[in-house]
Amino acid sequence: METVNVLLLGSGGREAAIAWKLSQSPSMGKFFIAPGNAGTSAYGTNLPLKPTDFEAVYNAVCEHDIDLVVVGNEDPLVFGIREALTEKAAKDGRKLLIVGPGREGAALEGSKDFAKRFMERYNIPTARYATFTAETLEQADSFLETLLPPYVLKADGLAAGKGVLIIDKLEEAKKSLRKMLAGQFGDASAKVVIEEFLSGIECSVFVLTDGSGRYLVLPPAKDYKRVGEGDTGLNTGGMGSVCPPPFCDDKFMAKVDERIIRPTLEGLRKEGIDYRGFIFLGLIKCGSNPYVIEYNVRMGDPETESVMTRIASDLLPVLVETASGELTTSALEEDPRTAVAVMAVSGGYPEAYEKGKVITGNLNPEESVIFHAGTKEGADGEILTSGGRVLAAVSYGENIEDAAARSYKTLEGLHFDGMYYRRDIGKDLL
Ligand code: AMP
Ligand code: GLY
Repeated sequence: METVNVLLLGSGGREAAIAWKLSQSPSMGKFFIAPGNAGTSAYGTNLPLKPTDFEAVYNAVCEHDIDLVVVGNEDPLVFGIREALTEKAAKDGRKLLIVGPGREGAALEGSKDFAKRFMERYNIPTARYATFTAETLEQADSFLETLLPPYVLKADGLAAGKGVLIIDKLEEAKKSLRKMLAGQFGDASAKVVIEEFLSGIECSVFVLTDGSGRYLVLPPAKDYKRVGEGDTGLNTGGMGSVCPPPFCDDKFMAKVDERIIRPTLEGLRKEGIDYRGFIFLGLIKCGSNPYVIEYNVRMGDPETESVMTRIASDLLPVLVETASGELTTSALEEDPRTAVAVMAVSGGYPEAYEKGKVITGNLNPEESVIFHAGTKEGADGEILTSGGRVLAAVSYGENIEDAAARSYKTLEGLHFDGMYYRRDIGKDLL
């Protein structure tokens, strides 16, 4: 096979894990990560550019003769990077493949109201809901009164993962709704989706699809969103993940396939949306049945950190097939072991925290793979913290307990000022 020059966009642990995986491909030609972090430079060349600066991205494509762009995070997709790059490439007569949907497909993540209406049209199981604006406040109050607590309020647009409020008291929910509609999350909460609260256990299922209805399902994962042990405290970008969670057994995954994946892809086709990329199904298992909590149009973080380590197949040709609309690979080989990712974060995260702390210890342990997230290289080549989520230690094991123990052993050998991690990742699944 010919080699492929790749540009991966993003800078988090997710992109580090994708970069780690892709860099192992015999088909990899030149490999760039933009902007990347202190860890991704071990897998390719970091380019200092912003993924939402489409002009700069396209210039990098031309300068480095890129064949394939893989978009790691949602912002560029929702803002139309596929359309922008496709148009520029067409003008230049350049062949360019992109993993990631266009603006219309990205609305599955960019607008909760769009996603809910989509699910309604295709009978995809999800929480009962209605959408309101400042003009329909009275109807919103009446709708809230028909629901049982807790109340789920969601900003329609992108709100950096902070736009979902779960509130116990009706009066408080009404107050919060007013704040949201008055601009608590800027334009993103000019529309608010109110939905029924679903009770169950959450998991993340990732699908790669090529726009023609063909698809592959990646290993499922569970992420740990709350900052505190026992799922307490504030929501974060994710404190760890387990792949696969035992409750995502074959029977459950067959239901996910039949009730959610197939109707979703069918719906996209019916609406004329040529979706080429990852679809992230945020699911909740209620009893034995899956419901969609949300769609995302990219991989999850920190799920990717454990998912990538369990994909045994060469992923690069699969991404090329996806982006070409010719996904002929029919299954991914999976590592039979369990993978557990534990995220080390800056003290204080997800609230205020300090940056620029020196990370010491063995960043290349035998026991685990370390994926950098919020790190950067200092002037003397030292590794510094540069974000809330700093790095993930990912390990394999015969089971969750075994894999988690290895990740914890690795983290004990690392240090930075204020370093914190949850010590109970995967415990609830034992
Ligand atoms: P989202 O940003 O849509 O992923 O929502 C953030 C979190 O809120 C989810 O991961 C769930 O834990 C929770 N959540 C969202 N919608 C619901 C719902 N309808 N019922 C129960 N929990 C929900
Ligand atoms: N882990 C959840 C997300 O990436 O949105």
